[in-house]
Amino acid sequence: MNIFKKSATLAMIVMVCSLNAQNHTDAKTEKRIANLIKQMTLEEKVSLLHGNSKFYVSGIKRLGIPEFALSDGPHGVRAEMNLHNWKYAGWTTDSATCFPPGTSLAASWNPDLSFQRGEVLGEEARFRKKDILLGPGVNIIRSPLCGRNFEYMSEDPYLISALTIPYIKGLQSKDVAASVKHYLANNQEENRTTIDVSMSERALREIYLPAFKAAIVDAGSYTVMGAYNKFRGEWCTENNYISRTILRNEFGFKGIYMTDWNACHSTVKAAMAGLDLEMGTENKDYKDWYFADPLIKAVKNNDVPMAIVDEKVGNMLRIMFKLKMIDGKNRTIGSMNTSEHQQAAYQSAAEAIVLLQNQNNTLPLNFSALKSVAVIGDNATRKHAAGGLSSEIKALYEITPLEAITKKFGSTVKINFAQGYTKQSAFKENSNVGQTVKSGTDWKLIDKAVETASISDAAIIFCGLNHDFDTESADKIDMSLPYGQLELIQAVAKVNPKTIVVLIAGSPVELAGVVNRVPSIVWAGYGGMEAGNAIADVLSGKVNPSGKLPFTIPVSLQQSPAHALGNFPGRNLKVNYEEDILVGYRWFDTKNIMPQFAFGHGLSYTQFSITNFKADKNTVVATDKIEVTFTIQNTGTSFGGEVAQLYVSDPVASVLRPKKELKAFKKVFLNPGESKIISMPLNVSDFAFFDEKVNNWRVEPGEFILSIGNASDNILEKLSIIVK
Ligand code: BGC
Repeated sequence: MNIFKKSATLAMIVMVCSLNAQNHTDAKTEKRIANLIKQMTLEEKVSLLHGNSKFYVSGIKRLGIPEFALSDGPHGVRAEMNLHNWKYAGWTTDSATCFPPGTSLAASWNPDLSFQRGEVLGEEARFRKKDILLGPGVNIIRSPLCGRNFEYMSEDPYLISALTIPYIKGLQSKDVAASVKHYLANNQEENRTTIDVSMSERALREIYLPAFKAAIVDAGSYTVMGAYNKFRGEWCTENNYISRTILRNEFGFKGIYMTDWNACHSTVKAAMAGLDLEMGTENKDYKDWYFADPLIKAVKNNDVPMAIVDEKVGNMLRIMFKLKMIDGKNRTIGSMNTSEHQQAAYQSAAEAIVLLQNQNNTLPLNFSALKSVAVIGDNATRKHAAGGLSSEIKALYEITPLEAITKKFGSTVKINFAQGYTKQSAFKENSNVGQTVKSGTDWKLIDKAVETASISDAAIIFCGLNHDFDTESADKIDMSLPYGQLELIQAVAKVNPKTIVVLIAGSPVELAGVVNRVPSIVWAGYGGMEAGNAIADVLSGKVNPSGKLPFTIPVSLQQSPAHALGNFPGRNLKVNYEEDILVGYRWFDTKNIMPQFAFGHGLSYTQFSITNFKADKNTVVATDKIEVTFTIQNTGTSFGGEVAQLYVSDPVASVLRPKKELKAFKKVFLNPGESKIISMPLNVSDFAFFDEKVNNWRVEPGEFILSIGNASDNILEKLSIIVK
């Protein structure tokens, strides 16, 4: 490792100024808020600080303060639940548009699509008369096994931030509050309600906090959801450091800090630490919740000052004003299930598909030249939108791959379906018991699939996971493909050289036994309601794949940092993030470990070149801005999109730094032969690391290498910048 100490005297400390305006209001509104608070009794104030049912908070009629309506979840507006239990209310009017979940959003690497998604979700939430939509989920994909990886976006904080900001801006532009979740370090589901997470201050600042900061400071998220777990010994919902010091003081957050459902553990401690709203507490009468009668009592006993209660009520009212809930005119009325919304869901699904491997240009399939195609696998017919627990969506419709392929090509091509494998698990909350029965290989189904593939011109196997694995409330037990899918793929590939594997999953899966046996592998993620159409269009070449992996796919679980170091899911209800800042590709790069597929990887049916990489200055100081430019050209023969990725390295530093880190990217669509000059603005301050010695960010002087490429393992050009 090439680490030398640089002169500390020359070191430049970059101050982070984090005041945001978006969740603040003007002086006039603040006056009105103060006035309203003055008119309230203590009981009325406290009534605003806890749920009165699963997803509502009562208003105060006599003061014109309306009820607050909350709803899940990150990729669609969840169907209406009963007021007082977890069953669905059985409405016939609550089917919704369902987008691909977070991981697929990130795989698109397209912030414009994220803004559009935010707007659509806002429209639909308003149509359903909701005020807060519980998302986006911005936790880090730390382990391939985390059950909620599919809801989160990436292993990289910059990529998550870049997609989170437009999502929240789009959503809130429709007068619906985002609730960025789960603050903080909810990176596993195993023991999520009891685990105590420790990490260094540097890992917190460089990896786990940036997306929350972006959501609050840059996007102005109106609400933040406190996670179930403990952070450094204290529950996130009563953790003074993360809520008072960071959220309120550093980020200047003036919105609502609420609990996850049933994540409150105290009255006085949580109240003093800055929690505003208690939701979802189980097994207690609403009046007995921590922020109900016990809070009234605590104020009367002088354990909680009235000013603290007023602060919370102020935060609630401030967001109501922001959302035009109090005498607001022109609040968005919203719309539901429009063709524009469905088109947005399709676009999001199409751009999320990642072409992992494509030997001999097996894809795209020229369906008009084929007589027959074998479509194999449970995921060819399985619908996924209604799974995963709190993010599940009652989609207005969901197109499966088999439906789409049959509809688009079935009139000229014989579609031979074979089941191949069956879903044998049954998810049970808080356990992965269902997953342990997953591995049964059904040779009869495999034999049938082999027979089908052998009489077809090409075979497409739809495999991967389902929401018995990618789910809230349980982690996966390993990274393997369940239900004998590996045997299926290997057997089919032997009889049909044109075997294409399409993976539908929200987390990395083991592909070591697949890559050398089939020519083409497509990562389709979960695609929401338009999944089938998007996949069929990519397979046929109508859509050129432009997605890039938002996470590393390791060869085996043991390669991945938390598992290599044996600290997932922790021991004795404690987990220490020993891999520190080396999460995802930062670990693989720095340790020279070759994964199966690298972060940022994704092929296209055309080719691109990236050349002429330049910076407007090569010698800078830490407060400077740099503009880098490069030419990107489509050198192939079809229209397509490429994601140019800019990574920064600090090869000589006084601390261990990752080999490189993503600091900018741009998705560009080009016609064959077309080229564009792209410029990317960079702040030199973004090259900083968090220096625990001075408890601040520091850009050390010396040489930095800027690399541009189309994957973290395919760097095309580099340049050097000297920081004075
Ligand atoms: C989840 C949250 C969700 C909430 C309400 C919790 O179990 O962790 O993400 O928003 O339930 O459904």
